[in-house]
Amino acid sequence: MKFYQKKDQNMTYAKIISTGSYLPSKILSNHDLEKMVDTSEEWIITRTGIKERRILADNESSCDMAYNAAIDAIKNANISTSEIDVIIVATVSADMIFPSNACLLQNRLGIKNIPAFDINAACSGFLYALEMANAYIKSNIADTILIVGADAVSHYVNYKDRDTCVLFGDGAGAVILKRDNAPGIIITEMHADGSGVEFLHAKAKIKNGEIVGDPYIHMEGRAVFKTAVKSLSDVANSLLTKSSYTKEQITWLIPHQANIRIIEATANHLNLPMDKVIVTLDKHGNTSAASIPLALDYAVKVGKVKTGDLLLLEGFGAGFTWGGCLVKY
Ligand code: ACO
Repeated sequence: MKFYQKKDQNMTYAKIISTGSYLPSKILSNHDLEKMVDTSEEWIITRTGIKERRILADNESSCDMAYNAAIDAIKNANISTSEIDVIIVATVSADMIFPSNACLLQNRLGIKNIPAFDINAACSGFLYALEMANAYIKSNIADTILIVGADAVSHYVNYKDRDTCVLFGDGAGAVILKRDNAPGIIITEMHADGSGVEFLHAKAKIKNGEIVGDPYIHMEGRAVFKTAVKSLSDVANSLLTKSSYTKEQITWLIPHQANIRIIEATANHLNLPMDKVIVTLDKHGNTSAASIPLALDYAVKVGKVKTGDLLLLEGFGAGFTWGGCLVKY
């Protein structure tokens, strides 16, 4: 860990200098799901916007996906691994009970003696990690931080439950943040409401070598949907008010990819046309903590997001957890 002289904190920003991603090669289409549960391509597309999702291979893990996304981001940043001061992995599907995926990733990257830890905030995990990394950089604890959002959600999906199995996919997205004198992350705001546990959970734990409780995702979709739309609109208002930016100044909305109707409602609330919203849901499904960095990486690589753009990142997930972040890219 590098330590720095105290600087004027107002002049210190955490800037995203690169993005990276990894998607497993196996595609699970809506037509594949029609053969597994009582559903239809038409229902899935009209109710969710999802056409296909990726599923990791039997010999692949969430840390493998995190590693591939991290390597992509490191290469795109043109930095050496020795420059990284902190590794944060947002995940709900680490390879082991412990140590964390971040420690496994650190070892695979051949980096010694820097802090590395996981954050579990479900689909909001990447945003929680961004807030944490921003605080590390602004308080002069670190200079360069690797964040990965990686989730093997399919491990917790019951492929006999049509309410949930059509929604989720696997993947990983990464960013490198570096200290800069210009923005950077402008403002972050995170929330949690633990009373949401009843509506969205995978309740199992390991005790005495046995799985205790139901390990599959349970979701009361309608309740989650309503809370997500309200929470995401509230957090967008709050971020704009506190930062004195206006809706009109947002170049791109990059939301968590859970449901096209939630995304449309959020965009509508901001008076943003859908061509200012990054949507990868149709190809990725809901990849939990990987969803926002995957969408960001896609948007950067296809040339939609450019240097200087104002991005609003927003997410909602189990907990409930939710939050948002305004970023100058
Ligand atoms: N195929 C066909 N019919 C289905 C399917 C399916 N796959 N799933 C449910 N249905 C049926 C239901 O049984 C119901 O039938 P009924 O009217 O006869 O009872 C009907 O479709 C409507 O069901 P709803 O649950 O009301 O459908 P809704 O329009 O709410 O869509 C959905 C469901 C897609 C789950 C939506 O509620 C949603 O996206 N919720 C939010 C998800 C989310 O944001 N999650 C947060 C992050 S996840 C995380 O953190 C791990």
